[in-house]
Amino acid sequence: MKIFLDTSNLAMINTWLQTGLIDGITTNPSTLSKEGGDPKKLVLAICAALGSRDVSIEVTKQSAQDVYKQALEIAALAPNVVVKVPCHPTYFPVIQRLVKEGVAVNVTLVFSLLQGMMMSKLGVRYISPFVGRLDDIDVDGSELLCEMRSMIDHYEFDTQILAASIRHVRHFHDAVSFGADVVTLPVEVLEKATQHPLTEQGIAKFNADWHKLGITQFP
Ligand code: E4P
Repeated sequence: MKIFLDTSNLAMINTWLQTGLIDGITTNPSTLSKEGGDPKKLVLAICAALGSRDVSIEVTKQSAQDVYKQALEIAALAPNVVVKVPCHPTYFPVIQRLVKEGVAVNVTLVFSLLQGMMMSKLGVRYISPFVGRLDDIDVDGSELLCEMRSMIDHYEFDTQILAASIRHVRHFHDAVSFGADVVTLPVEVLEKATQHPLTEQGIAKFNADWHKLGITQFP
């Protein structure tokens, strides 16, 4: 199970890299815009910080021709770049071409099993179902993860399921339990998931009991 951070904040990325838990990063135009400054410099710094681990960077152009050209430019930024392309029919020929040319592609904004199946057929590295945004429209986003797992296993596609748009710890739990290959987490969700009140209480109790012994040197 791979854990990606869903952020463009370099300070947060560097902090969490120290935990040994982070296998990659997903950025998008919204998170890059939130950081401000020069997005090219920022993505280059993120790629360098991640070493050989994947960094997804999304195209921002609109026409198929421009998206193809931009995707190649993005892919050339660093060896660990994965190009994010929206799951829209306009870009299907582009996605097919990029895959054939050896570009790692993460198809983003995936909301249905059929979109996921079609993109897996094209051989992309990742499909990104947006769990939280489906929940927003009263569709069970976690159920889609489950259906995608069965579909990929049944047809023996090589594509990995990257659970995205994760809003809370329950979504993280579902991504693990339904067999997503990767989950990309906002920092707040990862932080919450690392904590458990019974662990805190347990540490406090062991500490209190230990101090009853009154010794200062052990072992
Ligand atoms: C990740 O690849 C996506 O861009 C991200 O998870 C979207 O999350 P949001 O729906 O919270 O914007």
